[in-house]
Amino acid sequence: MGPATTIGTTAGYLNPGSDRRSLPVMPAPGADRGALVVPTLVTPTGPLPVRGGRLGRPLELRPGAVAWEDGVLTYVGPPDGLPVEAERLEGVTVAPGFVDCHTHLPFVGWRDDEYEARLAGRTYRDLHGEGGIPRSARMLAEASDEEVLAFSRSLLQEMAAAGTTAVELKTGYGLSVQGELRQARLARRLAGLVPQACTVTLLACHAVPPGMRREAWVRAACEELIPAAAAEGLVDAVDVWVEDVAFTADDLRAVAEAARAHGLPLRCHAEQLGPSGAARLAAELGARSADHLNHLGRGDVPALAASETAAVLLPASTFLLRAPTPPARELVAAGAAVALATDLNPGTSPVTSMPEAIAIGCALYGLSPHEALTAATANAAWVLGLGARTGTLEVGKRADLVVLDAEGFRRVPYRPGHDPVVRAYAAGRRIDGKGAY
Ligand code: NIG
Ligand code: FE
Repeated sequence: MGPATTIGTTAGYLNPGSDRRSLPVMPAPGADRGALVVPTLVTPTGPLPVRGGRLGRPLELRPGAVAWEDGVLTYVGPPDGLPVEAERLEGVTVAPGFVDCHTHLPFVGWRDDEYEARLAGRTYRDLHGEGGIPRSARMLAEASDEEVLAFSRSLLQEMAAAGTTAVELKTGYGLSVQGELRQARLARRLAGLVPQACTVTLLACHAVPPGMRREAWVRAACEELIPAAAAEGLVDAVDVWVEDVAFTADDLRAVAEAARAHGLPLRCHAEQLGPSGAARLAAELGARSADHLNHLGRGDVPALAASETAAVLLPASTFLLRAPTPPARELVAAGAAVALATDLNPGTSPVTSMPEAIAIGCALYGLSPHEALTAATANAAWVLGLGARTGTLEVGKRADLVVLDAEGFRRVPYRPGHDPVVRAYAAGRRIDGKGAY
């Protein structure tokens, strides 16, 4: 006989995969008002972005309590100050919902054959063309709007189950002015179909469209695409990939200029496959973030740390590309605004789970569990311009939170492959689809 399991009472339940000793009696899925008393509550706090030693020192309450009404947090603190009746959970931790500040949704179709080919010795660079971004662009062009939305929506459901309550959506597979605008419109439609808070980034320069000269595309992106996307209110930021197979430092300057002219923050895929100086230049240009950073020179760390540009780390993509790791410890020590995300895309990171990205970030980059938590919540929200609304548990913010199945956040990176999320709430409503708990 297995261990005694009693569902619906607070007695006698011990699952070896989890610290939860009880299953709650009063599930209230759907309600956007609630209150929880838990053994551990952990949350980063402002001011944002969080830098240096503060990354690894979120506020930890043992025990803690949280309450919300109309989707907004009304209490965060010790249980004895809680003004309302609460549900008590044992063996769990409450933390802010994860903010995935770098994804390539919406897209359609996978490219697992390319991963297999890379494992057999091909490189990302030499697959670019027959495979790579141009291939995802073909799949997107051939799919109907409804197919793209259905495919992407199911991934956002998976992300909700894994505790992601806010997400960046990006273009970059359109590869023509009309194609990019279509992808941005699909992103806005997708945002209306899912429970997460979404922002949309125009990845105006991702790959040079087949048959076009690079200079001609950059001109079209700056003179037609960015103005059109801005005029239609389709996007919240603009992104560029600087790489030998993509765009140059001068292209980054041109896109930065066009983005600034339309009041849009700049982001940059920088130093992913090789060193280019793009991260330092992005910082000089006042970009919101420089992302990837696998080949960031040690000498560029202080410049990034002294700037307003966040260092967005994407360890799942590093893992699957088997790429060098960025100088993450140096970035933290120097005071950079470090954030962490999945980079969900069909080429380098088909990973939807923030707990998984956090686990890889700790193992490969040497982040501490609490540093990874802060990078994946508060700082990620700041990168998306959502820092006032989500990313920390503070009264007045959206009730975006996760309930994790262990006491203390450190269990999350310790168990890659395990789903630690018992519940996820966005604006106070259950979005995890896990029902009973
Ligand atoms: O972030 N580096 C460029 N873009 C993606 C990969 C896109 C793809 O392969 O489809 C990235 O890794
Ligand atoms: Fe990316």
